[in-house]
Amino acid sequence: MTNTKSLTEELKQAFIELIAYQTGLDIKHREKTDFVEKIFSRMKALKLSLPEHYYHFLESATIESFKEWRKLVILLTNTDSYFFRDQGQFNVLRNHIFPEIIKRKQLNKTIRLCSAGCATGEEPYSLAILLREIIPNIEEWKIMIFGLDINQAALNKAQTGIYTSWSFRNSPAEIIQRYFLLINDHYLIDREIKQMVKFINFNLVKDPLPQFGFQLRDMDLIICRNVFIYFDVGAIAKVLDKFYHTLQPLGYLLTGHTELSSQNLNKFQTKVFPESLIYQRPLK
Ligand SMILES: C[S@@+](CC[C@H](N)C(=O)[O-])C[C@H]1O[C@@H](n2cnc3c(N)ncnc32)[C@H](O)[C@@H]1O
Repeated sequence: MTNTKSLTEELKQAFIELIAYQTGLDIKHREKTDFVEKIFSRMKALKLSLPEHYYHFLESATIESFKEWRKLVILLTNTDSYFFRDQGQFNVLRNHIFPEIIKRKQLNKTIRLCSAGCATGEEPYSLAILLREIIPNIEEWKIMIFGLDINQAALNKAQTGIYTSWSFRNSPAEIIQRYFLLINDHYLIDREIKQMVKFINFNLVKDPLPQFGFQLRDMDLIICRNVFIYFDVGAIAKVLDKFYHTLQPLGYLLTGHTELSSQNLNKFQTKVFPESLIYQRPLK
């Protein structure tokens, strides 16, 4: 029978590097035991007894290995999220960023937003609710909100739009009342809010951005929070460059606090609000 001892330090390191290359995820020292167990649980599911074989399988560019990556990342990612996470940042969006975008877009009435690393959907749905709260004649607008994530299990949950009270750790009671239906301890999101968000299985590190086919372009706002904390520095730089080219001029990027502290942000302008920094792609 296989056990964690059969994974040599060398092979463990090789797995860690392969995972970082494929997903950006940086397996930290403290997570290593847990990580080895996850590797072995996938091997067991595939009836593989040698970790070398699993490594080569993951490394191969085949449809089967692509499908296996989808299963492995479900084990490796943390998908914790909740509605209106970081009230201060949502206040910045409500009081400064969205009013400015809405004013600038009065003519073509089109807004594109992207929640990159959207997990189970609370973040993009919070954006949809916020826009619905502040645009009085919203039916005259074309609003596209994209939720991107590498974890298909999380996206499946996002697509159901059904949550428990744990997803409302930070939500005003009147918002819950207005946009959710309580059925047997579960909260079902309003159909119109649900229809505002399109979820896409997307690997921020590997998949190209912008993508014109999916309308993943000319974003007014990309919000990517609590994702880069799991990434290595090189992967953050790569994704940051993609975000820059996926924003339209004057489009905004909002990350978690200090998540870009290791990065060169020369291309962006920084706006400082007491509650949060926000980055903007300059006009030229
Ligand atoms: C902790 S959740 C953050 C959810 C939400 N943004 C928030 O702040 O509440 C991190 C999410 O990033 C996703 N993720 C990690 N690596 C990714 C990658 N390479 N491409 C796309 N999503 C990724 C994970 O699957 C997970 O759902």
